[in-house]
Amino acid sequence: MTDTQSEQPKLEDIFPLFFGHAYSQVVTTAVRLGVLDQLTDGAKSAHDIAVATETHPPSLHRLLRALAALGVLTDSGDDLFELTGLGVLFCKDTPTPVHGAALMCGDPTLWQAWGALEEAVRHGDTGFHHAFGEVIWDHLRHNQRLASRIYGTMKVTTSMLAPAVLVHYDFSPFKTIVDIGGGDGSLLATVLAGTEHARGTVYDIEPALRQTRDVLTNAGVADRCDVRVGDFFESVPGGADAYLLKHILHDWDDEASVRILRNCAEAVDPGGKVLVLTSVVPDRGSVTDPMELKVLAMSDMEMMAFHSGRERTVDEFRKLFTDAGLRLGEVVSIPEHPNFHVIEALPA
Ligand SMILES: C[S@@+](CC[C@H](N)C(=O)[O-])C[C@H]1O[C@@H](n2cnc3c(N)ncnc32)[C@H](O)[C@@H]1O
Repeated sequence: MTDTQSEQPKLEDIFPLFFGHAYSQVVTTAVRLGVLDQLTDGAKSAHDIAVATETHPPSLHRLLRALAALGVLTDSGDDLFELTGLGVLFCKDTPTPVHGAALMCGDPTLWQAWGALEEAVRHGDTGFHHAFGEVIWDHLRHNQRLASRIYGTMKVTTSMLAPAVLVHYDFSPFKTIVDIGGGDGSLLATVLAGTEHARGTVYDIEPALRQTRDVLTNAGVADRCDVRVGDFFESVPGGADAYLLKHILHDWDDEASVRILRNCAEAVDPGGKVLVLTSVVPDRGSVTDPMELKVLAMSDMEMMAFHSGRERTVDEFRKLFTDAGLRLGEVVSIPEHPNFHVIEALPA
């Protein structure tokens, strides 16, 4: 037996490894039912919460006790439940991505995709494709609930990350910036607001663009930014000197990623840049923080459950760029967001 094996595992480490799905369902069910939002003004009884959320009182009482056991609520013992600091994070009006992430991660459609992870590992398939027979982005065209949860979460996370990108990467040399798969436009809105003379285009499939005009208008950049529906596997808008790909390539396998990059390489002005904004898998051993390692590893597993893609190292990006007729430029880290980088791909 090795030293590592002879350490006595603790139950608190073992239990979530096979029962984590129950933790997640307890919390995300409470979020979906609006249970936690009932407590933002202070403690309430299980009965009052059940009335307000139109739920079955005895069952809700059990759910509340479970939430207390997980540290999301406190249970005073006299039928009064109160939010903890952790619980507050899951409430609707808290300005963090936690509420949206809980709604998205608890969505039954995504659970079905996670349920097919075994098939993905056996066959190199995608869990989502195995469960539903289609690519997740096509599925969103007819699953409005999941579309609004996924795009809603991306909106919050991207809005939180974009200001730091602007601090560490200089967009001022660019005249025209196209955000490929730009979603609701939160990234490009921030970039254009900080880059006075640049014009832009948000380019995405239709379900992603339903709120984009509003986001651009609220940021005061609507007069400098177009919104275009299109498929980045077919083509991308031409004639720009910067193409942004934020959290795009990790959704796709190498062959599909090269197709997207090649379309950008063909479209970009000479002297322009394709900018891949992404998490990067660090060199082995260079990250020691256990939570950071878990976030990266689970993000990679998520790519396997939902998409054909993966998280990649800088060397893997370099190879994709070469195959698409581009070459690796500067790699700029965004220290506020561990492992997040702007990777330049330059016309070869
Ligand atoms: C992970 S999201 C990233 C969105 C945005 N860049 C961000 O970081 O907030 C991937 C984006 O790719 C878009 N997308 C997927 N397939 C596409 C296609 N064939 N053509 C254009 N956009 C596509 C999705 O609609 C979605 O907005």
